[in-house]
Amino acid sequence: MIQRVGVVGAGTMGAGIAQLCAQFGFSVKVHDPAAAVLGALPGRLKKALAAAVLKGKLTTQQAERACHAISPVPRLEDLTGADLILEAAPEDLALKIGLFERLGAACPDAILATNTSSLSVSKIMSRVALPERCLGIHFFNPPVSMKLVEIIRAEKTSPDVFRAIWDFSLTGLRRTPVDVKDVPGFIVNRVMRPYYVTAQRLAGARTAFSAIDAACRDLGRVPMGPFELMDLIGLDTNLSITKVLFEGLGRPERFTPPALQQTLVDRGLLGRKAGRGFYLYKDGRSAGENPDALALLPAGASRAPGASWPVLRDALIAEAELVVAEGTAGAGDVNTAVKLAMNFPKGPLEWRDAIKLP
Ligand SMILES: NC(=O)c1ccc[n+]([C@@H]2O[C@H](COP(=O)([O-])OP(=O)(O)OC[C@H]3O[C@@H](n4cnc5c(N)ncnc54)[C@H](O)[C@@H]3O)[C@@H](O)[C@H]2O)c1
Repeated sequence: MIQRVGVVGAGTMGAGIAQLCAQFGFSVKVHDPAAAVLGALPGRLKKALAAAVLKGKLTTQQAERACHAISPVPRLEDLTGADLILEAAPEDLALKIGLFERLGAACPDAILATNTSSLSVSKIMSRVALPERCLGIHFFNPPVSMKLVEIIRAEKTSPDVFRAIWDFSLTGLRRTPVDVKDVPGFIVNRVMRPYYVTAQRLAGARTAFSAIDAACRDLGRVPMGPFELMDLIGLDTNLSITKVLFEGLGRPERFTPPALQQTLVDRGLLGRKAGRGFYLYKDGRSAGENPDALALLPAGASRAPGASWPVLRDALIAEAELVVAEGTAGAGDVNTAVKLAMNFPKGPLEWRDAIKLP
């Protein structure tokens, strides 16, 4: 029975995961080696919980209870006694391996979970005593509002531990879990990759970013086209995931990291956070396509803008079919994951089935 949770890393994800667990009544200890981050955590959480009260998502009492349920702790070993450890430290394999080696020794009875986005869970857990208690729980940002969690079976994860974490996610945290094998990108980052990479191949002087984004919104009824989405995620973050998947999956041609995106990253055009990416931003709002990015597009590669949506949709379908055929995840979970993570009206395999219908 999971009651006491330890969170490692109090950054974007760690703080959000701690808040989520506390909101659902778990007692949470949070460790971060950066004293300033740890010191700022109570204030940060208070602010986030107050905002949830204002939005009507929590009562004042619930927010106060959640606030009291979280204790920052200065040493990793202070997490001893936790039933479950959720790790959200930086995405660095050596760092995570070292952390779990220590956690394995300090918390001999705990289930150990990493929130890695792109690293191999089995490799992260390679030096843990009793690796059958280890797995991945991939939360999405922000954890408090995103319903999806990908539960990743590592090589040695025991069925009992998988089931306990499935129940914890579903009943304890009221999330929607999906079952996925330990492969690069899991479901969402893998299946969505062609949306970003293929879109850049389609872009040309006459079919630029806004035309492709508009085609996806209008024809696919998706909330965001690929270029506005990459600007939101951050071109650097998005590109680094493409590179990890490209290498991790044996360098498939379809995942070749786009030269266009690399050039934009090298020039500091990182998207919204830099005020410039595929688009320009003023006061947080899009102010049109970025002429410096447009100048990098090939002159000849133009096509009717509307044609880009079916190409992207079919690329998503093809990737989803591969994921299912490989046994990485089931079709239902692939559809659920993409819909919940991306707020898409249909999952890729539902699109496929709809196209097939007369
Ligand atoms: N940001 C996202 O959208 C997102 C989404 C899903 C998963 N993730 C994954 O979650 C993890 C954390 O990402 P983030 O965006 O919260 O990063 P972040 O940089 O915001 O936070 C990382 C925190 O870890 C702390 N830290 C550094 N060294 C540490 C150590 N040795 N032990 C414990 N903590 C340490 C840092 O002080 C920092 O507070 C990564 O593995 C990332 O891939 C991120």
